[in-house]
Amino acid sequence: MQRTLVLLKPDCVQRRLMGTIIKRFEDKGLNIVAMKMIRVTPELSRQHYAEHVEKPFYPSLEEFITSAPVVAMAIDGLDVISVVREMLGATSGLKASAGTIRGDYSSSRQMNLVHASDSEESATRELELYFNEDELCNYEPVATAFMRAGDE
Ligand code: PPS
Repeated sequence: MQRTLVLLKPDCVQRRLMGTIIKRFEDKGLNIVAMKMIRVTPELSRQHYAEHVEKPFYPSLEEFITSAPVVAMAIDGLDVISVVREMLGATSGLKASAGTIRGDYSSSRQMNLVHASDSEESATRELELYFNEDELCNYEPVATAFMRAGDE
C-alpha cells in the first residue's frame, strides 16, 4: 500500500473540474484519506517545486500555482504513485494520451490540471508539506473486499 500527494491546480478549480477529476480517482477505487482547499504561497511553491526553482519557467509556474486555490489530497492505494501518474498522462496536455486526465481536459504544459508525486521519496516530502499527521484520516473502505483479492 502506498500514499501519494495529489494537487488539483488553480486551472482545475477555476474551470469547475474538481468534481470531475475527484470522481476519476474514486471510480478507480483509490482511497482519498485527506483533502483540503488552500492557497499556495510563494514560499510553499518554492518548497514544492524546489528542483525547478532555478529553471526559466519557474516564475511563470509560481505565478500560476499561487493565482487561485488548489485542492490538496492524500490518496492511498496499491502502487498508487505510478497508478495516479498513469491516470494523469504526460506532463503536457498536448502530449497526454486521450483517456488520461490531461489528455481529456488539458491543452497546456503549465495548466495541466493536476500534480501528483512522481516517486516514494517525493510523496513523503510533498505529503509533509501539505498535511499534518492529524489531518490524515486512515480508514478501511467497506468496498475493499469487492475491489481486489485478499492476496493483491
Ligand atoms: S513531471 O511530470 O513532474 O516530470 O514534469 P516536469 O517536466 O518535470 O515539470 C514539472 C512541473 O513544472 C511544470 N512545467 C512548466 N511550467 C511552465 N512552463 C514550462 N515550460 C514548464 N515545464 C514544466 C509542469 O507543469 C510540472 O508541474 P507539476 O505540478 O509537477 O505537474
